[in-house]
Amino acid sequence: MKSRRTFLVGGLCAASALPAVALPFSASADHLVRSPFCGKDYGTTPWQPAGEYFLEGAPERVNLADDDPGGVTVELFGSVFDSHCHPVIGARIDIWQSDHFGQYDEEGFKLRGHQVTGPSGTYCFVTVIPAPHDDDPPHFHTRVIGPAGKRLTTNVYLPSDGKGGGGKVDPSLIAISDAWGEIRRVRFDFVL
Ligand SMILES: [Fe+2]
Repeated sequence: MKSRRTFLVGGLCAASALPAVALPFSASADHLVRSPFCGKDYGTTPWQPAGEYFLEGAPERVNLADDDPGGVTVELFGSVFDSHCHPVIGARIDIWQSDHFGQYDEEGFKLRGHQVTGPSGTYCFVTVIPAPHDDDPPHFHTRVIGPAGKRLTTNVYLPSDGKGGGGKVDPSLIAISDAWGEIRRVRFDFVL
């Protein structure tokens, strides 16, 4: 019998092979040209420090969740846009995070991975909800490198944590909840 996690990996993130990733209904083509985080009122995605846990060379993959079998699965998906809200093709997105105990794998590539955006500029990871650490609410570390070399390092926070962040979390770095029940799915768009 397929596990719940196997089902999830076979869901949104596996809707098409890397690097192109299909978006769900709620992220239809309209959102590709006008997302909540892309437009004249928003600017580019704010930078945040990479912290001390980044490792170069994380493998290209969709499923990070199997690295933390006790964690709660969440799908993190979205697009990379340029400042004119056009999808960026060929952008590399690295993600690294703590496990559900708040621990980072400092020697290997557990809960680390990267993807390269396809023709629609999208990405999709199946991972787990990280625990808070160092007084920070749960977050995904990310680095995006555009095909022309433009770089962005930032953190992506979960929507449920933004409410309790006490003003600490920049609202523009909080992912949008696309589903938050038995299936948890959040969207975050990067604007380079
Ligand atoms: Fe962190």
